[in-house]
Amino acid sequence: MDSIDPSRVLIFDTTLRDGEQAPGCSMTLPEKLRIARALAELGVDVIEAGFPAASTGDFESVQAIAREMAQEEQSPIVAGLARCMRQDIERSAAALQDAPRRRLHVFLATSAIHRQHKLKMAKEEIVRRAVEGVTMAREYCDDVEFSPEDAARTEPEFLAEVVAAVVAAGASTVNIPDTVGYTVPEEFGQLFRYLRQHVPGIDKVVLSVHCHDDLGMAVANSLTAVLAGARQIECTINGIGERAGNCSLEEAVMALKTRASYFGLRTGVDTTRLYPTSRLVSSVTGMPIPRNKAVVGENAFAHESGIHQHGMLSHHSTYEIMRPADVGLSRTHLVLGKHSGRHAFRERVRELGFELEDLELQRVFEEFKALADRKKELFDGDIEALVLRAGSGASGPWSIDNLDTQADSRSPARATVRLRHADGRTVEKSASGDGPVDASFKAIEQAVGLALTLRKFEVRSVSEGEDAQGEALVYVEYNTRTYRGSSVSTNIVESSARAFLEVINRIELSAEQRSTRPQVMRAP
Ligand code: KIV
Ligand code: ZN
Repeated sequence: MDSIDPSRVLIFDTTLRDGEQAPGCSMTLPEKLRIARALAELGVDVIEAGFPAASTGDFESVQAIAREMAQEEQSPIVAGLARCMRQDIERSAAALQDAPRRRLHVFLATSAIHRQHKLKMAKEEIVRRAVEGVTMAREYCDDVEFSPEDAARTEPEFLAEVVAAVVAAGASTVNIPDTVGYTVPEEFGQLFRYLRQHVPGIDKVVLSVHCHDDLGMAVANSLTAVLAGARQIECTINGIGERAGNCSLEEAVMALKTRASYFGLRTGVDTTRLYPTSRLVSSVTGMPIPRNKAVVGENAFAHESGIHQHGMLSHHSTYEIMRPADVGLSRTHLVLGKHSGRHAFRERVRELGFELEDLELQRVFEEFKALADRKKELFDGDIEALVLRAGSGASGPWSIDNLDTQADSRSPARATVRLRHADGRTVEKSASGDGPVDASFKAIEQAVGLALTLRKFEVRSVSEGEDAQGEALVYVEYNTRTYRGSSVSTNIVESSARAFLEVINRIELSAEQRSTRPQVMRAP
């Protein structure tokens, strides 16, 4: 472990683990790799890549991220979550094996509610199992983090006892989660001060904070913990996570930066990467960013009222505490069209905060040209959509060969779809429905032979003008799980059908992942 710098707050990103636990936010392996690379570029200290014992898919993605980070010049620590059980810890250690810097994160619930109703364990057993978990994890890795789940609702004396025991057992980071988003800033700060006073050796470990946002206080609670001595914040991009989500990374980081004279602390995050990373996570997870979201929302830097606009024209500091460029927002109304060249396109992509490899740039540029033939003017939203979709989406076994729809106001709409499977077969089906989108969904369902329950369907414009591109978002329930698909096109029937097919590809991919077994590494 590096020595602890008291002015440095470590940023532990759990978008790929706790964030992915949000309903409908599950990601494919290529999507996770893309986000992991963006997080490394953003400069987070730790990437929690997943929970390897949870599924084969999780194991494989943690392993792939660990390997990917070996390519980074300055790799963040890659962490894997595990319960305090030999089998979990072994799987996590095996998945992390190739990471240049790795951490085992073990957890066990400590609150009375969890002890009685979930674990059915007495206090003594909790302490024993927590110590065993940390001791086992240390067999594989020097960097071990322990989390007493539901710490915020645990009796402070018992929490201090557990924390003292895991510190003595060799944990190098102790994380204090508010698992259900129940605490309030003053109370939580007091808990951190209590632990610092009552746990021997606590100053030798990194004290971490992990807050959920059920009452909308995750960021405030995290910052209060930092004021009370925490030096690691666990957070997610756009605050995605279970239920109401987790502490939002961009809000916590920008609060520490904007109010540096108050906190006297710093992070290693390159804040100009915040906006593009936020857009990437939103596009990959299909979780839209509210327009008024702090720091990265579309309206975060918009000034509407006359008084504010007048103030801004006199001096931006009248109504602006951060500059858009500080968070990497460089939107313009610069318009590109079919005569724009590769160079202008690449420059705009860069200004929007995205870096593409030459080959990828060429592919996206060709898509840009094709789009420019259909659409007169291309705005930032169009370019962002093209870049964000490059390499994302679930490219599963099915693709659309052809889609024909007929609709008028007198009779039900009809759709005929021809799908191609990766194994070479093609299937053609026709169906009628309540409009061309409904008919297309029904034809696709029949072609793949799955019965799905459509939970949510949205279409929104990603850019400006009458010929703007429409992004379709589809949420479907299948076998008690929620799956999501999205697609962008100037033709919204086409984008809807593609989004629906992406859902089917995700279902097929997750079925494949469940049927392969992970390997398990033995203790050295
Ligand atoms: O919310 C929580 O308690 C967690 C732990 C596993 C850290 O996510
Ligand atoms: Zn959590």
